[in-house]
Amino acid sequence: MKLKGKNITLGVSSGIAIYKAVDLVSKLRKLGVNLSIILTEDSKKMISPTVFSAVGNCTVYTDYFEVTDGWIPHTQLSMESDALIIAPATANIIAKIANGISDDLLSLTALAFRKDAKIIVPTMNTRMYESPALQRNLDILKKDGWIIVEPETGHLACGEIGKGRYPDNEMIIEFLEYSLSKKDFKGKNILITAGPTQEPIDPVRNITNKSSGKMGYELAREFSNRGANVTLISGPTNIKPPYILNEFIKVKTALEMNDEVIKRFNNSDIIVMSAAISDYRVKNYSDIKIKKDKENLILELEKNPDILKEIGKIKNENQILVGFAAETNNLIDYAKKKLVEKNCDIIVANDVSKKDIGFDSNLNEVYIINKLGDVTHVEKNTKKFISINIINYISEYINSKK
Ligand code: CTP
Repeated sequence: MKLKGKNITLGVSSGIAIYKAVDLVSKLRKLGVNLSIILTEDSKKMISPTVFSAVGNCTVYTDYFEVTDGWIPHTQLSMESDALIIAPATANIIAKIANGISDDLLSLTALAFRKDAKIIVPTMNTRMYESPALQRNLDILKKDGWIIVEPETGHLACGEIGKGRYPDNEMIIEFLEYSLSKKDFKGKNILITAGPTQEPIDPVRNITNKSSGKMGYELAREFSNRGANVTLISGPTNIKPPYILNEFIKVKTALEMNDEVIKRFNNSDIIVMSAAISDYRVKNYSDIKIKKDKENLILELEKNPDILKEIGKIKNENQILVGFAAETNNLIDYAKKKLVEKNCDIIVANDVSKKDIGFDSNLNEVYIINKLGDVTHVEKNTKKFISINIINYISEYINSKK
């Protein structure tokens, strides 16, 4: 889901974490959303509307009497916005919205906002957060279709430690994307492998490759946004997994990845093998550190299972198998050969010899190939964009089979 061009209203109430909402505004602006901001009376005492207006390059509304040329803020904003976020949300604004009290611009706008994309981020002292009244009100909001982004546990402004901290803004943005995405994969179980594998030589050395895992993580994020139950099995990476995910499994070796895939295979509707799995592992693994006393060191390697090929043999006709082909030459021909040999429905080919795309880059350029040999080119773009295109392709493929 791309947020660029979406109309988002951000409501800000007077939690101590209000300064983090300024960063949220900055991040949303960078993503190209059209922002409108509503500040409650008390939040204005904490940070000036000028800060929000300048950082968001947008209008900040504070009063429902600010009717200009017949433009009534709460009815217009609630009608024109694609999504409403309230961050930070105090116990007071939560209580008002849960109970239909609408005595200020933010609660009025919330009452009038009738679309699905509504997100609330409660942040407060733990004892307040855990109070029966607050929890009761959050339950009401959930029933009314609000997405609650749960606060983190940690040090709070009051000096206590507990649940109530403002969560990462990246997490709020992921929930925003989720709330705005169509749910065309609702109920589907999707298994994704990502990243490299690591094959140990001795306790301190590995054989691995340059895969960053970014492509697979973006696919997992987008499938989750679109309503799927996603299991992400990942080799070692330095990136954060998506916040919205059914299951995240970390593995190191190809054998571990194989075990985890096989365990879940029967229950998966779509399997996307984007991991760069090591074809070989070290046969003579040393359980103590190898010393450099020899002039030449010869490592014997033995073959790892080809996971995709093995599941290709046992997949049923309703399961969809998507392979990846990482090539440095003869890209399309080699990819087509792999599609047949591994019995895939779709294969995504990418050229890993180019420095600016593929392994370890934020960008990629791919060719999506189906069983008929049709090739669809997705031009160089972010891995997020590429993942959306791959998933759209899978969606069309499913529809064409019906
Ligand atoms: N794959 C796999 N198990 C392996 C190796 C690869 O499941 N042991 C999967 C990858 O996840 C990918 C596809 O097979 O979806 C193709 O991987 P790639 O590395 O491009 O090709 P290989 O099959 O390893 O063949 P080669 O290295 O000879 O190109």
